[in-house]
Amino acid sequence: MHVSIVTLFPELFEPFLSATVLGRAVQSGLIRVDCVPLRDYGEGRHRVVDDRPFGGGPGMVLLAEPVVQAVEAARAAHGPGVRTILLSPQGRRFDQPLARELAAAPDGFVLLCGRYEGIDERAIQVLAPEEVSLGDYVLSGGEAAAITVLDATARLVPGVLGDERSPEEDSFSLPDGLLDHPHYTRPASWRGHDVPPELLTGNHAAIAAWRRAQALERTRARRPDLLPKDEEA
Ligand code: ADE
Repeated sequence: MHVSIVTLFPELFEPFLSATVLGRAVQSGLIRVDCVPLRDYGEGRHRVVDDRPFGGGPGMVLLAEPVVQAVEAARAAHGPGVRTILLSPQGRRFDQPLARELAAAPDGFVLLCGRYEGIDERAIQVLAPEEVSLGDYVLSGGEAAAITVLDATARLVPGVLGDERSPEEDSFSLPDGLLDHPHYTRPASWRGHDVPPELLTGNHAAIAAWRRAQALERTRARRPDLLPKDEEA
């Protein structure tokens, strides 16, 4: 998986890219992440990247030219099928199916992090990115959203998680997209709370049946909108 991130704040990504699961995946070459500093494409000696909005109002708007140049430079390091994604609250909601799609995108993807009050609309017209939102709330910039997209996609790349099966067993990834079942570890009895006896039987079919029933029950209680049609009501 090859991801390029166009951002005014590349330093925000460094700790995330050097630690944890993602860090190991980058080190081992399973994923490649290029940060493209928007500031490098700024105008003049001061590398200006923003200006006041025409028509007035608060805040600053990112200039079209540096944004387009930075994204074009980012795209040039990918194959022709590269996807360009603008992180914005106005986009398609990010979810597990989209994470799977992006993780498997053959020419990778570019994440464009917006900032301030927005990006000059003409840059968006010229780049024609897909717009992706984390949810119905406003972040102060796209960076936190980009890290989320990066994390959710990288862990789906084969080999990134130690155990090949684990991403498929998470919430939203069971064969029918249910929430995850509860998990337990030692001790079997703790502060008067016992681990469900089904998990201690060693009977794999019984354990699988218990987990599936729990996943269904949780999904029905917490997210009935995710229930498969034949499990509704
Ligand atoms: N940038 C600002 N708010 C956002 C959101 N909700 N999702 C993605 N990017 C954003």
